[in-house]
Amino acid sequence: MSEGAPQVHLSVLLQEAVEALAVKPGGIYVDATFGRGGHSREILARLGPQGRLVALDRDPAAIAAGRMLDDARFTLAHAAFGRIAAVLDGFDVGQVDGVLLDLGMSSPQLDEAERGFSFRYDAPLDMRMDTSRGETAAEWLEQAPQAEIERVIRDYGEERFAHAIAEAVVALRQQCRISSTRQFAALVEKAVRTREPGKHPATRSFQALRIHINQELEELSLALPACAARLVAGGRLVVISFHSLEDRIVKRFLREQSQPARLPARLPVRAADLPEPPLRLIGRALRASAAEVAANPRARSAVMRVAEKRR
Ligand SMILES: C[S@@+](CC[C@H](N)C(=O)[O-])C[C@H]1O[C@@H](n2cnc3c(N)ncnc32)[C@H](O)[C@@H]1O
Repeated sequence: MSEGAPQVHLSVLLQEAVEALAVKPGGIYVDATFGRGGHSREILARLGPQGRLVALDRDPAAIAAGRMLDDARFTLAHAAFGRIAAVLDGFDVGQVDGVLLDLGMSSPQLDEAERGFSFRYDAPLDMRMDTSRGETAAEWLEQAPQAEIERVIRDYGEERFAHAIAEAVVALRQQCRISSTRQFAALVEKAVRTREPGKHPATRSFQALRIHINQELEELSLALPACAARLVAGGRLVVISFHSLEDRIVKRFLREQSQPARLPARLPVRAADLPEPPLRLIGRALRASAAEVAANPRARSAVMRVAEKRR
């Protein structure tokens, strides 16, 4: 798909996520992953005239799309959500009533060949969500040590053939620059010796490079405590993740923050004397319905988790 193609993104778990935020008409909310604004529009529809929505995205194309959203209650910032505290400080916003993180990629990012996220198109191997800064995947592959390439592909792609792929990268880059999606996909296809049904052999390696180039797991680990710290009592944190590595981080964070501290051994302290944990889990992990997955296959791996601030 080219630059001229429509910039469509079907929001995943749209009603469920905004419902989980329990929007109060006069509340202040943060959509930390604006994308094409599907969730933001739904939040605005539920806010009254005194409400406020701050949205963030690290992708300049998302920010450009967001400029069309003309609403006095809405503020948009080009920033990574790991910097949420600084962004809110910059807008003079203290505590908020809810934060939504709809992680991963938007459809325009995946569908625009020139972003280099997909092996479906031949394009420069870029993969930066924020195209205004940082190293592209091609630049990283040009100089990263073999052991680091192997670690990234193994850990972030959960790829059994990471060693063979890293070896093939180092061998090929001695002959030419690995600068296109097709070149990288072909190299991976040769190195991966078994086939997973219904899955392109380069799927795992593309996911791994994308996670690494955008520091996705580090960003998430920074953002979760920062978001929780900004919530008012009764404020909601809603997170939609799209793969097990993200969901593991979310699940662990929410578990740690919602369980009472351990009783110190051999000290006369009663459970009732310990401080309450800061968050309370709301419901169980939620997945998209069969009907949503049929209409939007991207929803099939989505998992939504919700927590509420206690104090
Ligand atoms: C799944 S899309 C969000 C779609 C959006 N909820 C909607 O309904 O249109 C994820 C968006 O999050 C952005 N994103 C991913 N990681 C980010 C980060 N660390 N900081 C800010 N934005 C990020 C991506 O650029 C992408 O636009």
